[in-house]
Amino acid sequence: MLLLEARALSRSFAAAGVVQTVLAAVSVQLAAGEFLVITGPSGSGKSTLLNLLSGLDQPTAGEVRFRGQLLATLSATAIARLRNASFGHIFQTPHLLPDRTVEENVALPFQYGSACPKATMEARVSELLTYVGLEEMARRRVANLSGGEMQRVVFARALVRQPEVIFADEPTGSLDAANSQRILQLLQRQTEEGRAVVLVTHDPQVAACGTARVHLEKLPLPEEVRQ
Ligand SMILES: Nc1ncnc2c1ncn2[C@@H]1O[C@H](COP(=O)(O)OP(=O)(O)O)[C@@H](O)[C@H]1O
Ligand SMILES: [Mg+2]
Repeated sequence: MLLLEARALSRSFAAAGVVQTVLAAVSVQLAAGEFLVITGPSGSGKSTLLNLLSGLDQPTAGEVRFRGQLLATLSATAIARLRNASFGHIFQTPHLLPDRTVEENVALPFQYGSACPKATMEARVSELLTYVGLEEMARRRVANLSGGEMQRVVFARALVRQPEVIFADEPTGSLDAANSQRILQLLQRQTEEGRAVVLVTHDPQVAACGTARVHLEKLPLPEEVRQ
């Protein structure tokens, strides 16, 4: 089943009177169970593409559809609702609430969107913490965790609402080899369970995990900037 479809996506940014085109007519398709890897050098537009696919940003030209629905036709509220219900996000640096406990951080997505019974919520948080191997740390403050543990909290939080698509932007960028491996295995297991994964990386070994790949190159800057 086709989940995401992006056609001829372009994205330009205007700064100081100069228009910089970061993506030019990129097309992507993502079906359930697929693991799409976005590769390319730093500054080639990988995060920009991820943000367009997940509805965080809007393209200058082209379109993104989720389950056939054009994202551009949805209101900001509808996009936020869709993102909360159907998408999970893992960023390179964990955006967590350091003074809250591990379980409070994982439960955060339940504060938004459709209501969920408390017992279901607690069961889901506990299941996810076991899944990422942090069940013993549920009541610990996030500020006291290691980088690898924090990234696993982020992972659990991204999955707690059972998203259809998981977006991961260089999720292993700040991790050691063992923790990177662990996150990649967790992502792969998600695709086996029928979810789709979009992963950004510049690590060729990580890229080998994918079932499909989009490679981006850095586009030349406009003439007037290069002189
Ligand atoms: N909001 C923005 N405003 C202006 N320029 C941006 C913005 N977001 C990204 N860019 C530019 O787009 C280019 C690609 O950025 P990015 O998608 O973050 O690359 P990557 O993730 O591949 O390193 C960079 O030159 C960056 O400066
Ligand atoms: Mg990036």
